[in-house]
Amino acid sequence: MTRILVLANQKGGVGKTTTALNLGLALAAQGRRVLLVDVDPQASLTAFLGFDPYRVGRSTYSLLMFDSMGLARILRTPRANLALAPGSIDLATAAVRLVQERHPLLRLRSALRGSRMPFDFVLVDTPPGLNVLSVAGFLAADEVLIPAQCDHLAMLGVRGIQDMARRVRDDMGNPGLKVRGVLPTFFDGNAAYAQKTLDELRALVPVLDTVIPYDTHIADAPHQGKAVLDYAPDSPGAVAYRKLAEEIGGSSIP
Ligand SMILES: Nc1ncnc2c1ncn2[C@@H]1O[C@H](COP(=O)(O)OP(=O)(O)OP(=O)(O)O)[C@@H](O)[C@H]1O
Ligand SMILES: [Mg+2]
Repeated sequence: MTRILVLANQKGGVGKTTTALNLGLALAAQGRRVLLVDVDPQASLTAFLGFDPYRVGRSTYSLLMFDSMGLARILRTPRANLALAPGSIDLATAAVRLVQERHPLLRLRSALRGSRMPFDFVLVDTPPGLNVLSVAGFLAADEVLIPAQCDHLAMLGVRGIQDMARRVRDDMGNPGLKVRGVLPTFFDGNAAYAQKTLDELRALVPVLDTVIPYDTHIADAPHQGKAVLDYAPDSPGAVAYRKLAEEIGGSSIP
């Protein structure tokens, strides 16, 4: 069975795209068949995988805009076990057009669920903020994963996502949607506030066991055109992303 996870946080720069990329690569390295879906007009995930979002051609924009567009027609396969439904900068236009009608928001869901392609995991990377592109991702998903930086504002972003998940589940027609939990990112073990934030989060919401540390290798990797798993496979960040793949891959929704 395919598990579709949407990665979301209303805050920007918390590690959503980095998590989609490295979790996807780690799951693929374990032999899982993974599809990465980029619905962010910034298209960082697409760029991280070496495609130019200005020239990528067919993208998730086409999926969202045209009923007849099948998933297979937009896919790229950057490596074994890993497919990409690329994003492109015209997703910004899609966002404006999608506000006007609801039906197109379900096109992503239809495309991902209607496809016969045998993916084990689909990871949908969304833009920061709570906009229509994120809603399209929430409508398509089984589970929500919330990467969140361990700082004093973390809970705000998490609350917004929980509210949105609830609304999509109760009022918008995806009753099976579950919040898988918060993935702590940029964790600095030397900072007292980080541990305190983590403890506070754990008291309030489901939090994954895996914690992604602050690691300069993760930030360096894109500058080398690589994911941290390839760039520095033994770095704390890469080790943590492999552990996350074990945690996510080994468990279904609790
Ligand atoms: N654990 C980490 N340690 C150090 N740097 C990190 C870590 N995670 C991500 N980064 C770096 O922080 C920046 C933001 O990460 P990323 O693009 O994954 O965030 P995002 O939530 O997808 O951002 P946006 O909201 O703009 O889509 C990137 O340059 C990334 O390389
Ligand atoms: Mg991003």
